[in-house]
Amino acid sequence: MKGLILAGGAGTRLRPITYTSAKQLVPVANTPILFYGLQSMVDAGIRDIGIIVGDTADEVRAAVGDGSRWGATITYIPQDEPLGLAHCVLIAQPFLGADEFVMYLGDNLLEQDLSTFVRAFRDDPSRPAAQILLKSVTDPHRFGVAELDSQGDVVRLVEKPSEPASDLALVGVYLFGPLIHEAVRSIQPSPRGELEITDAIQWLVEHHYRVRTHQLEGWWIDTGKLTPLLEANRLLLERIESRVEGHVDAESTIDGRVVLEPGASVVRSRIRGPVTIASGTRIVDSYIGPYTAIGIDCTVVHSEVEHSVLLERVSITNVPRLQDSLIGRDAVVTRTQSRPKALRLMVGDHCQIDVE
Ligand code: G1P
Repeated sequence: MKGLILAGGAGTRLRPITYTSAKQLVPVANTPILFYGLQSMVDAGIRDIGIIVGDTADEVRAAVGDGSRWGATITYIPQDEPLGLAHCVLIAQPFLGADEFVMYLGDNLLEQDLSTFVRAFRDDPSRPAAQILLKSVTDPHRFGVAELDSQGDVVRLVEKPSEPASDLALVGVYLFGPLIHEAVRSIQPSPRGELEITDAIQWLVEHHYRVRTHQLEGWWIDTGKLTPLLEANRLLLERIESRVEGHVDAESTIDGRVVLEPGASVVRSRIRGPVTIASGTRIVDSYIGPYTAIGIDCTVVHSEVEHSVLLERVSITNVPRLQDSLIGRDAVVTRTQSRPKALRLMVGDHCQIDVE
């Protein structure tokens, strides 16, 4: 079995971060989102992995390399334009051949590992053409939606329906046999101009090929926007184990589960986990509250930060309280005493600022 990870796409809903970074490489709990999917594939025994790359190809290649870090072999498959998930299968056909494969959307995160789904698909004696994962959600119109009959078999799949027939969303992890290639060649672009994988699976249903369903029990997050990204960060930080290898001075306290990497330092501060702080970062006279992930070489001075993600080399000074925030690389956030009291901003395109 092969793996196909989708790491193209523009990431418009995470601008401005995605002007300078692939959305799949934004870190949660200080690890790029994409790495969780890769690891999960390798844990399920899949080592021959294709990655679809778009405009951010160079960055993805630089981060993942040849895959040897995971014991995997990576084949990069360039997609010139984001023409849809089924288009990704179409262009990956030479790599996939007639093998079964797992397709994983690089910005999706799942609590469960993939092994159970892979085994269920492989061991099904009826040789299904596809297996989809479903999760009950409160906002199904944002996703592909499945309508099932009383036996739990798929009746219909619709991409982003305005009137969803159920609350069962298609999770961004799919298993396919070789029939999917005929399906992706047979469908037409959707109203948003994309070849939808949902339509390709619907094609399989219409042609009476078997599509297995599996309802997810654990959490699933499509991280493409700020709120779900912070939620993913929170859920992954719930899993960390304490590892305090950086320097903590005698006037600081560390409570709960905290990762402090070597070369990080905490001075006259309080850290209340779960928190992860990368190497080279200095926390001085500050409070870092639960569900915060701080990247390498940041400085936080005289400030309080909670439930936030700070990328590399961020500087936060004299900020009484920063929470529910995602701060991009090299950003500077500071409070000055100068009069008149005013917000002074140099803000890039598509930023979001919530003032108290
Ligand atoms: C894509 C799929 C959709 C699926 C979702 C999962 O949506 O088209 O069916 O439910 O991923 O994350 P997109 O992210 O392209 O809007």
